[in-house]
Amino acid sequence: MEKVGTMGELKSDGPLKAKVDGKAIIVFLVNDAPIATQARCPHAHGPLHEGEICDTVLTCVWHGWSFDLVSGQCEEDPDMVLERYDVKVEGEDIFVSV
Ligand code: FES
Repeated sequence: MEKVGTMGELKSDGPLKAKVDGKAIIVFLVNDAPIATQARCPHAHGPLHEGEICDTVLTCVWHGWSFDLVSGQCEEDPDMVLERYDVKVEGEDIFVSV
């Protein structure tokens, strides 16, 4: 697992962007817990860190497709699922493995 930031950074600065094992990832705060997923939208590679979150649903800014960050499921295409990665919080530090 690699450290990608702290809970303080996630709460104050919004989504955390990082690279883990060479893979671009992003960490969102959902219901006070970090969720790590791919940095680019699976539809057409839009920047997911610019998306808007309502409850647990992230909406991509490029074409408005929505993804539930808890299940990864896309609302527009049930066959499309966000990758999600293991996250561990130790004290303030957030670790992710891909
Ligand atoms: S690239 Fe995200 S909805 Fe199209």
